[in-house]
Amino acid sequence: MKNKLLIGSALFYSVFSLNAQLPVYLDKKLSIDLRVQDALSKMTLEEKVKLCYAQSKFSSHGVPRLGIPELWMSDGPHGVRAEINWNDWGYAGWTNDSITAFPALTCLAATWNPELSGDYGNAIGEEARFRKKDVLLGPGLNIYRTPLNGRNFEYMGEDPYLASILCVPYIQELQKNGVAACVKHFALNNQELWRDNVDVNLSDRALYEIYLPAFKAAVHEGQAWSMMGAYNRVRGQHACHSDLLLNKILKEDWKFDGVVITDWGGCHDTYESAVNGLDIEMGSYTNGLTTESEFTYDDYYLANPYLEMLKKGEVSEETVNDKATRILRTHYRTSMNLDKPYGSVATKEHYDVAEEIGNEGIVLLKNSPVSKKKTPLLPLDASKYNNILVVGDNAVRFLNEGGGSSELKVKDMISPLDGLRSTYGEKIKFAQGYAAGKPMYGREEVIENDVVEKLRKEAVEMAKESDLIIMVGGLNKNHFQDCEGGDRLSFGLPFGQNELIEELLKVNPNMVLVLLSGNAVDMPWINKIPAIVQGWYLGTMGGKSLANVISGKVNPSGKLPFSFPAKLEDCGAHAFGEISYPGIDRRQEYKEDILVGYRWHDTKKIPALFPFGFGMSYTTFDYGKASASASSFSDNENLTVKISVKNSGKVSGKEVVQLYIGDETGKVMRPVKELKGFDKISLEPGEEREVSFTIKAQDLQYYDESISNWNVASGKFKAYIGSSSKDIRSTVSFTYKNNLTVNK
Ligand code: BGC
Repeated sequence: MKNKLLIGSALFYSVFSLNAQLPVYLDKKLSIDLRVQDALSKMTLEEKVKLCYAQSKFSSHGVPRLGIPELWMSDGPHGVRAEINWNDWGYAGWTNDSITAFPALTCLAATWNPELSGDYGNAIGEEARFRKKDVLLGPGLNIYRTPLNGRNFEYMGEDPYLASILCVPYIQELQKNGVAACVKHFALNNQELWRDNVDVNLSDRALYEIYLPAFKAAVHEGQAWSMMGAYNRVRGQHACHSDLLLNKILKEDWKFDGVVITDWGGCHDTYESAVNGLDIEMGSYTNGLTTESEFTYDDYYLANPYLEMLKKGEVSEETVNDKATRILRTHYRTSMNLDKPYGSVATKEHYDVAEEIGNEGIVLLKNSPVSKKKTPLLPLDASKYNNILVVGDNAVRFLNEGGGSSELKVKDMISPLDGLRSTYGEKIKFAQGYAAGKPMYGREEVIENDVVEKLRKEAVEMAKESDLIIMVGGLNKNHFQDCEGGDRLSFGLPFGQNELIEELLKVNPNMVLVLLSGNAVDMPWINKIPAIVQGWYLGTMGGKSLANVISGKVNPSGKLPFSFPAKLEDCGAHAFGEISYPGIDRRQEYKEDILVGYRWHDTKKIPALFPFGFGMSYTTFDYGKASASASSFSDNENLTVKISVKNSGKVSGKEVVQLYIGDETGKVMRPVKELKGFDKISLEPGEEREVSFTIKAQDLQYYDESISNWNVASGKFKAYIGSSSKDIRSTVSFTYKNNLTVNK
């Protein structure tokens, strides 16, 4: 009905606008809906179908006859990727496509700072705009389920609430540049092993409570204009044409009005794609009989095969009208948005944003004194050291190379070694210590034993002569590390780093270990190393941010966005054998259900090595006693919980005050507690501030499978306030009265 009215008004305006020279669909004074309907009414069936599939590796067709441009897309999500060839995966070799590499999204999540997320979105949006992109393929919002997932670095951690709060400003600010966010990978792409077809099976509770909320926030609050389907299957059907995910949840329940784009090669069936809510097909592979260059875009599932089905009446024309409407709407929001800014690339402002996110995202995991000394090792006081040895391939490695589609061609890059040298000058010496080989797809470069031995020996010899070692290791973007298309093969550090660390410690226990990774790793040497810093992948300004934190110029305030288990089996996804990870015969069941990350550690009483929400500071924060505005509340009311926090140390610092809520009634299985609020505050030494949280009925709800909807049980609840999911400083109990079925 709405469509008919719009077509009616479009016709009216068509006649009306004749005198005004501009056709309705080009008249920017008119609403997007009117213009879309006018454009649609002028298009042939062939033109509508053409909108629905790629014309090159990263663009889809426009309507040349009507002057409707092509849609240009780019990876995402940490910077705008270099130009790719028209019809193969090689880089095009342009000389104007170097950009800012922003810290990976795990680092953004570790800032727990929504304002910085907005700055990130705006800065990357300006870069995408300058590079003439209409769609940026990001942010990535899949939940961190296992530390083996090769793509965790592209996502925002294990908690749906944290990821929801942080993705919204990124999307909103990005899109102000006339660039659509393409939120990915919808949904349940939580491992890279068998990603093309692993069939994920899980309960509705796990789906709605853990894996969907961030995507929903991206649609409802972020107002994201596009969504990328995932490669994997969900309950038997490919996510890129899943009736459940795309028709029912995304488009019907959430009322998403943007476009669904496949992951590259994620489309497998014409009929399902036609009827199950897919709008644009990208990156399909050849049919196996032809080579990439012979396989034309018109062979795609949503190309000629779709046109034929439409002509034969095997699928309704409504399907293509809906797709074309959404695609045209995306054009008006991006490529045909005449009010969009021009953008900019690699500016000082963007570098400042990248540095600030690094400063706030780096997490101090451990900081103890060395042997008999009293003060913790960090921050490093330059006057105390004459000879600092930096060890490690990651201190100099170009960590934006490799990793898959998030690979970046950076204009500038400050490595950890550069950053430390500019802070500590001539005192810094360097030894590579281990070799990691080049990033290569599908295999690992084998490093000869004598090379391994030589590098290790060199580093150990130099360590004997040094006052302090800063070992910069971790994972990298090689295949089977933090890289798309494969999972890590083990939980341990690769490339002989454990052995190197042990040997270095034998000759010099003064060690700061900096781990650059997007994942938790096994830490067998944990008790022997005084200081450990989780440094993520920090991009262009990474070395500077690291030096800022190590030297104390910046007081660390990052908090872990996911739990670091002591061993792999302590992680819920790995507690049920192969069926749960990686699956058997490519069929998988998420047996840990809703108990992902800290929900698992808390509920099963299996302590994490470093818990979710954990991160140290160079100052200390004292928490007062939490109080609630009432002892009970009911629906349509709110409860306020307050607590005072004081900087009781000697330097200014930022603290993330975290609110978790637990259901004490026990009507259905619930995790001990779940994150429902946080506030990052900045305090001068001695300063005290009151932090308050508003609790609503929605914060208490669970997904009730018996009614297929959210529900809240009346009963007793507990608010836990603390500095991490483990370090709870005060609790307050309250009751919630009434039964309320909350919105989907
Ligand atoms: C990845 C996507 C990416 C796309 C285009 C796929 O392999 O899964 O995240 O956006 O390639 O490069």
